[in-house]
Amino acid sequence: MTGQSDSKKYHIITFGCQMNERDSETLAGYLEERGYTPVDTHEAADLVLINTCSVRDNADKRFFGTLGQIKKHKEKDPDFIIGVCGCMMQQQYIVDAIKEKYPWVDMVFGTHNIHVFPELLEDVLHEQSHSTHINVWEGGGEVVEGMPYRRLYDYKAFVNIMYGCNNFCTYCIVPYTRGRERSRDAKNVLEEVKHLAAGGVKEVTLLGQNVNSYKGGDVDFTDLLYMLSEVDGLERIRFMTSHPKDIPDKLINAFGDLDKLCKFIHLPVQSGSDEVIRRMNRHYTRDDYLRIIDKLRTAAPDICISTDIIVGFPGETESQFADTLDLVDKVGYDSAFTFLYSIRPGTPAAKYPDQIPEEVKHERFDRLVEMVNRHSLERNQAYLGRTVEIMAEGESKRDEDRQAGRTDGFKLVNFDGDEQIRPGEFCKVEITEAKTFSLVGKLVK
Ligand code: SAH
Ligand code: SF4
Ligand code: F3S
Repeated sequence: MTGQSDSKKYHIITFGCQMNERDSETLAGYLEERGYTPVDTHEAADLVLINTCSVRDNADKRFFGTLGQIKKHKEKDPDFIIGVCGCMMQQQYIVDAIKEKYPWVDMVFGTHNIHVFPELLEDVLHEQSHSTHINVWEGGGEVVEGMPYRRLYDYKAFVNIMYGCNNFCTYCIVPYTRGRERSRDAKNVLEEVKHLAAGGVKEVTLLGQNVNSYKGGDVDFTDLLYMLSEVDGLERIRFMTSHPKDIPDKLINAFGDLDKLCKFIHLPVQSGSDEVIRRMNRHYTRDDYLRIIDKLRTAAPDICISTDIIVGFPGETESQFADTLDLVDKVGYDSAFTFLYSIRPGTPAAKYPDQIPEEVKHERFDRLVEMVNRHSLERNQAYLGRTVEIMAEGESKRDEDRQAGRTDGFKLVNFDGDEQIRPGEFCKVEITEAKTFSLVGKLVK
């Protein structure tokens, strides 16, 4: 018997955005330091962590559904440990609901204090009789450096550059769950990226709710991109997310200037109506937004652009929604994430009187998706017959006979490959078929 098979097993369920995925890597790092090894299901695990998201109501529902399923496991095995963390736990009414309805949960902690997880786990492991250990911090002032982590991939990595958000868009819960903006020191980011690149990572994605407002001492976001593009071995730099209210020309020019900066931007517009944008507290106009798109396409003609759009924000009229359709048609996005407005308790828009009926939201949503998909397909069709460079990312999820990879514009390409190609390798692929959400191609030797 090896020590491996004796070791305790853990499983982490992650909802939400890349911030949460990155936090889960840290939690996995702590567990592996304690000798735990990962497994794919909670049934096979001694400990499960659920890292939650609160951005829309369906995320909340999925969490409670998952917790309900896990209850059976706890009933069979009282030693099974259940921890819940992430954005939902930063809201008191959720923590209260757990205490009341799910008292068999062993630990609850929030987004600001994942570094206390090892202590909490010790407390749970050493307690004589069950209680729910709750440790959720408010606010989140400090940036904690040096936490361990277990990365999901060898060839690409997420790197936090800032935490929190100061924007308070009126629909959004994130400023309440992730606290105020704080940036990491540029030298810590640089060291981390150098370390990753030295270990074989080819692509980093810089993470923050609004990376454009990064301020690491006197290093702004664009300066940071220039610094990181000097790192040996690193081939691609991506970032998310950007807020249209602060896209300086300096950043736009970097797309023309920096080879390693991927020609891709996710630039959430949320709505094409000035009035709705104003009521969302977003601080730009549709003309400002369209001007930024023009400038980006002038600086980098092949740039791929994606966005987020909310349908049915309180008070949205049919003609304001038509402005969104019109903007989507003008921009011609490569892809767009579309959301039905979801009431988030505690946010200003939750109290707006003129909520839109569900059926109206759904009907608008369908029309929007139709337009978004039409543009995605058209944009993809422009690649037919072209040869593109991709970074291989392993077996295709859709088609096990094919490999998958991404262009620097973040287009997913499934291709007839060669088994010799390893994830993280760059190769050329000729595009033979265009679909709405992906491209198909064959390897060019
Ligand atoms: N910081 C990022 C977005 C984080 S949330 C940014 O500002 O772009 C991701 C997306 O979820 C948002 O862009 C928005 O489109 C959507 N979203 C946020 N709150 C929502 C709500 N209450 N209802 C529906 N969609 C919402
Ligand atoms: Fe939410 Fe707006 Fe902050 Fe994005 S910028 S996280 S949408 S408050
Ligand atoms: Fe969700 Fe929190 Fe991210 S609310 S979208 S996991 S910041």
